[in-house]
Amino acid sequence: MTSPLQHSLKGILQQRRAEHLFRQPYPVRRQGNSIFYNGKWLIDVASNDYLGLSHHSFLRKRAAEWAECYGTGSCASRLVNGTLDLHQQLEEKLARFKHNEAALLFATGWQANTSLIPALNILSRQSTGHDALIFADRLNHASLHMGCTAAAIRQHRFRHNDLNHLEALLTQEASRPGLKFIITESVFSMDGDRADIKALRTLADRFEAALYIDEAHATGVLGPDGQGLGCGLADITISTASKALGGMGAFITGSRELCDFLANFASGFVYSTALPPSVLGAIDAALELMPSLESTRLALQHKAEFLRRELARIGAKTGLSTTQIIPVMVGEASNALTLAAYLREEGFFCTAIRPPTVPLHTARLRLALNAELTIDELRRLVSLLAATFRTPS
Ligand SMILES: Cc1ncc(COP(=O)(O)O)c(C=O)c1O
Repeated sequence: MTSPLQHSLKGILQQRRAEHLFRQPYPVRRQGNSIFYNGKWLIDVASNDYLGLSHHSFLRKRAAEWAECYGTGSCASRLVNGTLDLHQQLEEKLARFKHNEAALLFATGWQANTSLIPALNILSRQSTGHDALIFADRLNHASLHMGCTAAAIRQHRFRHNDLNHLEALLTQEASRPGLKFIITESVFSMDGDRADIKALRTLADRFEAALYIDEAHATGVLGPDGQGLGCGLADITISTASKALGGMGAFITGSRELCDFLANFASGFVYSTALPPSVLGAIDAALELMPSLESTRLALQHKAEFLRRELARIGAKTGLSTTQIIPVMVGEASNALTLAAYLREEGFFCTAIRPPTVPLHTARLRLALNAELTIDELRRLVSLLAATFRTPS
């Protein structure tokens, strides 16, 4: 007899498949920006390794050396005895990199966002007696939404990058007690467009709100030395080492008081094992390389401009992307699946991004460029896509 659990599982999976929304991990092997999948090598246009650092010899060497020297595990959470000198030294470097007073490492960006927001709500309750007021962009990453869910607070969600809507919500809630936070991404992960952080700072100042910026897709890629777009403007910045820095982990930067507070109240920091030496070594090496990668960053942006131009020429819609992340909008999930499968057949690895990651009817191919792609490869990609999109008359 089928148990109630198995019955429910089968039902929900059947429904997902019927809606073309079923997902599963693809096992791949990686070499440079090539991906071995289903018996052949494909060119990677899907991953977040924007600068190709995940296989850079300098990072690999330091990760291996630190593992050799200090072991494979940190053996405890940070507040027990998992904090090594390496953590503290790296946090000082990360704070300098982001021009902030202090930094705090987390195991992942997901963990940082989901535990920061509940911690900030505790702060609001203790200091004002009321829940925090969260003003969040509608297209914020799932981890930011989950942070609000974990904190049991209702978000005031503004239309994507619509600062008039944000201003209206801030005005509406202006006299409400509770600490106010404006939360957004600097580069949106599925759209590749940017938030206007200067304008957000002005609004934050006007309404006495703190500005919380997720720089997962800007760190390493944009701003001087790859510092991102929020330097000097945000009160709280979260960055990941799992994308352009080619490793794993995340870090919060802000005031000394912010980091001291989070070290006490952010559950994802307090109750989780500290990052191990090899991971710290890779982050440390990536940071050291950052100032020398200016021409790589520029070349990446030029390739993205080239690709957007060429895609527009064949009639493909790429939304408002201005970065290395370029969505090719196809609407329905089934179209995205067909197109991704076709490109894989023809030598490019890219994934169909479907709801619930993106809103209904906005399924897309998310092209994520890396520095190793050549213009010829991009031309070939466009010529494959040209068969699908009509050329404007
Ligand atoms: C905007 C944004 N924030 C946070 C995360 C989570 O980071 P991590 O992959 O390190 O958990 C991601 C990852 O995709 C992201 O795109």
